[in-house]
Parts: sequence; structure tokens; C-alpha cells
Amino acid sequence: MENMKNITIEPKSKSFNLICDDIAPDKSISHRCAMFSLLSDKPSKIKNFLLAEDTLNSLNIASQLGATIKRDGGDVEIVPPKELQEADDILDCGNAGTGMRLYSGLLAGVDGLFILSGDKYLRHRPMSRVANPLRSIGASIDGRDNGNLAPLVIRGGELKSFKYHSPIDSAQVKSALILAGLRGDATSYYREDLLSRDHTERMLSGMGASVELNSDGWIEIAPLKAPLKALDIRVPADPSSGFFFAVLASIIEGSSVTISNVTLNPTRIEAYKRLEQMGAKIEYIQKENIYEPIGDIRVSYNGKLKGIEVSSNIAWLIDELPALSIAMALADGESVVKNAKELRVKESDRISSVLDGLNACGVETIEYEDGYRVIGGDLKRASINSCGDHRIAMSFAIAGIYCGMDIEDIECIDTSFPNFFEILDSI
Ligand code: S3P
Repeated sequence: MENMKNITIEPKSKSFNLICDDIAPDKSISHRCAMFSLLSDKPSKIKNFLLAEDTLNSLNIASQLGATIKRDGGDVEIVPPKELQEADDILDCGNAGTGMRLYSGLLAGVDGLFILSGDKYLRHRPMSRVANPLRSIGASIDGRDNGNLAPLVIRGGELKSFKYHSPIDSAQVKSALILAGLRGDATSYYREDLLSRDHTERMLSGMGASVELNSDGWIEIAPLKAPLKALDIRVPADPSSGFFFAVLASIIEGSSVTISNVTLNPTRIEAYKRLEQMGAKIEYIQKENIYEPIGDIRVSYNGKLKGIEVSSNIAWLIDELPALSIAMALADGESVVKNAKELRVKESDRISSVLDGLNACGVETIEYEDGYRVIGGDLKRASINSCGDHRIAMSFAIAGIYCGMDIEDIECIDTSFPNFFEILDSI
């Protein structure tokens, strides 16, 4: 049996004013740094790389594929190999869907046999959403459950170009297909209904690849003719990690938090906009632009929150909905989340794990296939199971500052935000 770590959080209703310059570096961008550096022939220099299990796994896979990695804390230099090499062992993505799906796209066009696996949660998440479109352009990918579940066995080879309109708005699917398109035999096109997070397009374009969103909504991907420029980047803070503290500041009277040097990419800050709609005071201060806009977000308590309907731009909110649900539980009136079926295939089934947690805290909810309704009012101390999902564990930890909480299985927090409790303790 795995060793489970639990935590008890005592309530603290005194206000706090926090300037947070140590929110975890962005997970999506860190994964991409590890992978995209392999597309260059020069060393990439990355500052403030996320030192969490998920992204360290991606870095480790880069090294198994032949990269030389020099690391001094969060400063990482990745020297790519001349050609990616077949690894002599499985490539372990741990808990990370991003790791497994993006590496599938990257490796589908590389000569060799690659086996991608991960922890028990990742091995139950659907991979056919990337494997099927990749197969349709010539990739050889197999796995359990008729090729849907990891371990995935990829026999890399030549890939055809494609024109693919994705049935899901997913940055992981999009990125996998863009990476495959870079190795296609002609120009490829990809389309999604709502633009999902676009770090891949921004970073690859910055490295010199031709990956363009056309005015007709199709992303045009030209095959690589030469290695890309190296990355030279300081990873901004992760807005999804900062959001836990944004919710906390907006529920504890008189509080405020400034999340410093965070990406202000519009596809990543929608949850802050929704919290603002619920009544919190939120300011955005742009300071620089490195592949994407970066700056500070300041969130202040502004009275009791109001209930909200969340049914659009779901792909921009998908990681923050568990934390936003804590705000919903403490708001006046009802809140509803719709069109969010994707929540069911995240690190846990987040519709049931959020609702199980809220119900244990005495909150009345209604479950839908694609969302849920929360009857706002109050939260009571309870014992919560994280279901191995970092965002569930952190959302209920935040609630614990309000009403006290016992949380089981908090080790998963290390997949994305290892210093979460240090920051929480500082409040
Ligand atoms: C991510 C994309 C999102 C998000 C995940 C990270 C990425 O998943 O939920 O945490 O880095 O591309 P989907 O693209 O599958 O929705």
C-alpha cells in the first residue's frame, strides 16, 4: 500500500496582506521548455523552471532522449542531442497528462521505439484523443484498452500532413498535433472551437518555427526545415497555482494578495475574471512580455462574494474550477458550472471529487453530467480525500483556513506546487 500523507489545517480568520513572489513557476510553460529545447541544436537556458514532480519527469525524459541537462536550482541548461535517441527504458511521465500527450506528439515522428507510462492515475486517463489523430497521419501507437490507455508504445516514423478540427478544446491535444505537424511531409492545419492555452504556438514561433493562427481560425504548421533557435526564458509564475491564494484573499475579510510575475496570457487568467464577477477586487499590472505578457495580479477582499454561472470559456478555467468552487460555496446565492464534461477526465473526476468534498463540508450541491450546481452559504470543517488530485487537495486546504479541514493524501501537491504549504503557513 502506498504511504499516504495527511494534514490538519486549523482555521484562521484574521486578515492577511501578502506579496507572493514565490508562487510555483508555470507548469505548462516548464513542460514545454523541457520538450521544445529538444527541437534546437543549441543549448537552451531556462530560469525559474518548475521543480515539481511533473515537470522534473519531463526534464528527465529529455535526458533519456539524449539531452545533457545542467541544473542549479531552477536554472536549467538543456543541451540537445544531435538527434533524439531511443531510450533504453520506459519514459515515466508520473502524474502528468501534459507530459504524456505532448511527448506522444513529439516522438511519433522520431525514429525508434518509445514507451510512455505514468502513475496509476495517469494510466487511467484517455490517450485516444491524441493517439487517434496521430494514428491517422501514420503514427504507430498502441496501448491498453485498444490503444487508449498507457503504457503507450510508440514506434516513431514518417508522418503525413493533416487538416484536423479537434472535437475538444485541449491545449494538450493541440500541442501534440503541432509537434507532429513540425515533422509532417507538408503544411498541416489544426483547428479548435475555443482557443485553448497557446503557450506552444507562442514559444515555437519565438524559436523560429512557422506556427500561425490564421484569420480563418486554422493554425497553420509548416514542417521544420532546420533546427529551431534555443530557448532563453524566465518561466513566469503559474496563475493556476496563484489562484488558490486569490480565492483565499477574496473570502477572508480585509485581506489582499499580490501574485508577482505571473503570466497574464488571456487563456490563463479567466478564473480571476470570474472571481472579479463574483465581487472580488482584482487589478492586473503588466510589466513585460517574454513570449507572453507577464506582470502582477492583485486580489483584494471586497465584501461577500455573489453566486455566478460558469458555462463559457471552460478550457480557460479547467484547472481553476475546483478552487473557484470553494468561492462558490461561500458566496451568496447559487452558482452553476455547465459544459464542463472535461472535468471528469482530469487528474481525478473533478466533478465528483469537488462535490464529494463540498458535500462533506455541509454544502448542498446538484451534480450534472457536464457540471454542477452549488448552493452557496457556508463551509464546515470536514475530512476530505484528495483523490490523488493536487488541485482538490489545495482547494480544500484553502477552505481549511476559513473553517478548518483534515485532508487525506496530500502528497500529490508535489506534482505542481511543492512550496504551497510554506506560503500557506506564512499567512
Ligand atoms: C495543459 C492543458 C490543460 C490543463 C493542464 C495543462 C497544458 O489540459 O488542464 O493542466 O499544459 O497544455 P487540456 O489541454 O487537456 O484541457
